[in-house]
Amino acid sequence: MRPGRILAAVAFLALAGLASWATSSPAAQDTSGLAAMKAAYRHPDPIEYPEDNPFSEAKEKLGRKLFFDPILSLSRTYSCASCHNPDLGWSDGLRKAIGFSGAELSLHAPTLLNIAWIPILGWDGRFQDLESVTFAPISAPLNMGLPKQMLIDRLTADPAYVSAFTEAFAKPEITERTIEQALTTFERTIISDESPFDRWIGGDEGAISDAAKRGFALFNGRAHCAECHAGWAFTDGSFHDIGVARGDDLGRGRFFPSSVKLQYAFKTPTLRDVAKRAPYMHDGSVPTLEAVVDHYDQGGIERPSRAEPIMKLQLSVREKSDLVAFLKTLTGDRAKPVEPH
Ligand code: HEC
Ligand code: HEC
Repeated sequence: MRPGRILAAVAFLALAGLASWATSSPAAQDTSGLAAMKAAYRHPDPIEYPEDNPFSEAKEKLGRKLFFDPILSLSRTYSCASCHNPDLGWSDGLRKAIGFSGAELSLHAPTLLNIAWIPILGWDGRFQDLESVTFAPISAPLNMGLPKQMLIDRLTADPAYVSAFTEAFAKPEITERTIEQALTTFERTIISDESPFDRWIGGDEGAISDAAKRGFALFNGRAHCAECHAGWAFTDGSFHDIGVARGDDLGRGRFFPSSVKLQYAFKTPTLRDVAKRAPYMHDGSVPTLEAVVDHYDQGGIERPSRAEPIMKLQLSVREKSDLVAFLKTLTGDRAKPVEPH
């Protein structure tokens, strides 16, 4: 873990606010506006670990081991990393995720990058905190298919795990809670690396192309992207209908049937490392970044739930390629793959 990279929810939210201020301000058009826009994307403060699950190296190390271990699936063939693969932007490169038995799930596997700052989890926000996501994939019959108690028994029968849990929690018993605490301590360290975009806002004019710089101005201006993809991680952590889903694929609307704006609303994903994890959206229905920009240009399905900033943009061919060039500058420079210890 690099402490310099790890930054606070509070500052993150403040920065997100600054981003929308920068877009709506007329000053956004001139040079001082550009400086304000850049400032809205600087790294936030350190991760705030929950009080009842503070960081420790032993927990992080154990969580990492669990994350990459197929012992967590019924068939012993599937780990968390099968679907959240660090080399594929912590997603899986598939349209929809495929579980251990070969069954297709109903959703695309989201990235886990910068998950420490996401307040509500799941494409439709069904999970209230990171800890509560742990056994959802492990025990879902179509996902990893392993009942809770079977996992506890498997880990308890493995002396290496018993000693790793003892080191992390000062007692040998392995419980649902300690498994959750170890895995989430590791997940909170999954943070995007410095990218060419970060070097540019840090003052290195040559770090990104002129096309990408024009794309950044569009992103914050006429294309309205920053109204939702705000702040350092390029997400407001909130839910919107961008005109993609149809039929009974209601997203957050399932929980709030009387809210017009939450019908077909899904969580805004971070755009860090976005070029590494095609296909896109909660249903994996958009194959490339070019196609994503075409979608926004056309405005998606027009209906009462569609978010206000989503509209026909009438971008030129050059503007569309400028936006894609900008999105590609958000890929971090991780030199070597993340390996289990
Ligand atoms: C078969 C593929 C698959 C496996 C294996 C898997 N996941 Fe996921 N994961 C998904 C999908 C699909 C979603 C989206 C679920 C939703 O939105 O309801 C998801 C969502 C998540 C989220 C929420 C992300 C967000 O942005 O809201 C977290 C956290 C997560 N998984 C962690 C894990 C952990 C930890 C493991 C291992 C114990 C794991 N996953 C195993 C496919 C998988
Ligand atoms: C109203 C809020 C909003 C605006 C404005 C917006 N987005 Fe999005 N964006 C979202 C949401 C929500 C999703 C996920 C939708 C889904 O999964 O169905 C998304 C998904 C994406 C994705 C796919 C990411 C992934 O991991 O799957 C990309 C890329 C993207 N947006 C880029 C842009 C660009 C470029 C613009 C401006 C042209 C833009 N967005 C404008 C909310 C917004």
